[in-house]
Amino acid sequence: MVCTFLAICSSFSSAMAAQRERTFIMVKPDGVQRGLIGEIISRFEKKGLKLVGMKFMQATEDHLRLHYADLSSKPFFPGLVKYMASGPVVAMAWEGSQAVKYGRIILGETHPANSAMGTVRGDFCVDIGRNACHGSDSPESGKKEIELWFKPEELVSWGMSTDCWVYE
Ligand code: RTP
Ligand code: MG
Repeated sequence: MVCTFLAICSSFSSAMAAQRERTFIMVKPDGVQRGLIGEIISRFEKKGLKLVGMKFMQATEDHLRLHYADLSSKPFFPGLVKYMASGPVVAMAWEGSQAVKYGRIILGETHPANSAMGTVRGDFCVDIGRNACHGSDSPESGKKEIELWFKPEELVSWGMSTDCWVYE
């Protein structure tokens, strides 16, 4: 019986690998300061997504200007960059079917006031400028952001043994 399950898991994993998508998730400086690192990681783990990259780091303002380049014309941009560089962050890459969409659902809406309870921003945040976490908004952004934050050798391809209990 055990062997049957192993065989199912093994053939499934290779078949599904091509469909996997990656998203860039970051615990922002306020999330780190407020002790939410474990809570945020836990929600992605429990969802069934797979961690493929993670580092605790201090980002520079130049790096953050690149990360948020799409928002450079917004009036809040200078304040956003300063706040994001005000302390360490946890940069992560998570993988799974529809990882970008599920990441945004886990985090909630941009403004915590519009975020449902049960989401990270709905449960833990109040102001739009202190919303604890970042999540890619499309598969293309996910790819671009992961390339900006990680060197190829910092990403790990591995088989998660629970895949066959997460995907049918
Ligand atoms: P993020 O990129 O950080 O995951 O946030 P998001 O997609 O939900 O929202 P986005 O439009 O990309 O904005 C990036 C971050 O900028 C801050 N913001 N402030 N004062 C304002 O009107 C305003 N609008 C956005 C937020 O911290 C937001 O997460
Ligand atoms: Mg965004």
